[in-house]
Amino acid sequence: MAAVFEATVTAPVNIAVIKYWGKRDSTLILPTNSSLSVTLSQDHLRTRTTIRASPTFDRDRLWLNGAEEDVSASKRLVNAITTARRLRAEVEKQQTDAVPLSQWPVHVSSENNFPTAAGLASSASGYAALVSALAALFELPQSASELSRVARVGSGSACRSMFGGFVAWQAGVAADGSDSLAVQVADHTHWPELQALILVVSDRKKTVSSTAGMQTTVETSALFPERVRAVVPGRMEAMQKAIAERDFATFAALTMQDSNQFHAVCLDTYPPISYMNDTSRSIAALVHAFNAAVGRTAAAYTYDAGPNAVIYALESDMRDLVELFAYCFPRAEDTAPDAFYPNPLGLFESPASVG
Ligand code: ADP
Ligand code: DP6
Ligand code: CO
Repeated sequence: MAAVFEATVTAPVNIAVIKYWGKRDSTLILPTNSSLSVTLSQDHLRTRTTIRASPTFDRDRLWLNGAEEDVSASKRLVNAITTARRLRAEVEKQQTDAVPLSQWPVHVSSENNFPTAAGLASSASGYAALVSALAALFELPQSASELSRVARVGSGSACRSMFGGFVAWQAGVAADGSDSLAVQVADHTHWPELQALILVVSDRKKTVSSTAGMQTTVETSALFPERVRAVVPGRMEAMQKAIAERDFATFAALTMQDSNQFHAVCLDTYPPISYMNDTSRSIAALVHAFNAAVGRTAAAYTYDAGPNAVIYALESDMRDLVELFAYCFPRAEDTAPDAFYPNPLGLFESPASVG
C-alpha cells in the first residue's frame, strides 16, 4: 500500500476589535490598515481540519463541511497550499532523506462547528487550520508569526488566528508582504475576566463576501481613506494600551466605535453594503441601554461582515447580560438571535493545536 501521511489540527476564531477592511494588494492579501483581535476559546467555535498527502492522489482536493470545493478555482486556496509547499521544499533540500511530501497532492477535509460565511470569521479559523495542518504535516520549522504570513494569503483575518490571546496584524509596508504578519500582544492568561458571548442573529451565508465587500469599499467610499489615515493608527495604540492596563471601559468604547465606523464605511460604499440588520441594531441599542442603566461601560458589541453580534464583557457582568438578551430576544424565527452559544465563552485558548 502506498504511503499516506496525515495531520489533524483545530484552529480558533478571532473577532477583531479594530477591524481589517480593505486591501492594498489583493493577491498577497496586504491590508490598508493594521488590525487587532481577540482569539476565542476553541471550546465552542472552531475549525477542525485533516490533511493527507499521498503519491497516489491525482490532484489537490478539499471538502468543506462535507461538500467538495474546487481547489484549482480558488486562488487563495492554491496560494496557501503552494506557499506551504515551498517551505516544505526547503526542508527537503536540507534533509536529503526527507519524504518528498512537497511533490504529493493533498486531500483536505475541514469542518466548522459554527455557521460558515455568516460573519463569524469562518475564513479566519478555516485558513488558520489549513495552514497549521500543512505545517504539521510538512514539519515546518517556521514560527507562528512566520506561518501567519502563509495563513494571510488564504484570508487576511486568518493570520490573527495563528495565536491565542490578543493579536495584532501589523499592516507592514513591504510590497512582498514580508512584514505583514500577526504578533501576539498578550496571551490568553493576561485578562481572564474578559469574556465573549456570540449572538447568532442569522446563520445564513452573507450575500456580499468580505473579499468582495472590502474591494468595493476601497474603490468607492470617500470616508474610507480618512478612516485608514486619521483614525485607525490612533485606535491601534489606544487599544493596545487599554488591553495592557485591562481597562475594560476604554477597550469597550473603542471596540464599539470601531465596529460602528466599519459599518458606516460599508454604508458609504457604493452600492451600499448593510451587514447589520434590525435585530443587530436592537442588540447594539440594548448594550447602550444596559451601560446607561449600570452607569458604566460594562459591555461592548462588535459586528463583522454579517448580522451576528459578539458581546465582550467582564465575567462579573456576563450573567446579567445573558439573562437580558434571553429576555429581550426570545427565540423567534428571523427576528431574534436563534442560538446562544452556551454561556459566556471562556476566552482564548492556545492557538491552533495539533490534534
Ligand atoms: P466569514 O465571515 O465566515 O469569515 P468570509 O466571506 O470571509 O466569511 O469567508 C467565507 C469563506 O471562507 C467560505 O465561503 C470558504 O470559501 C472559506 N472557508 C470557510 N471555512 C473554511 C474552512 N474550514 N476551510 C477552508 N475554507 C473555509
Ligand atoms: C469584517 O479576512 O474575511 O471580519 O482577507 O478577503 O478573506 P479576506 O477577508 P476577511 O475579512 C474580515 C473582515 C472583518 C474584520 C476583521 O476580521 O478584521
Ligand atoms: Co472572513
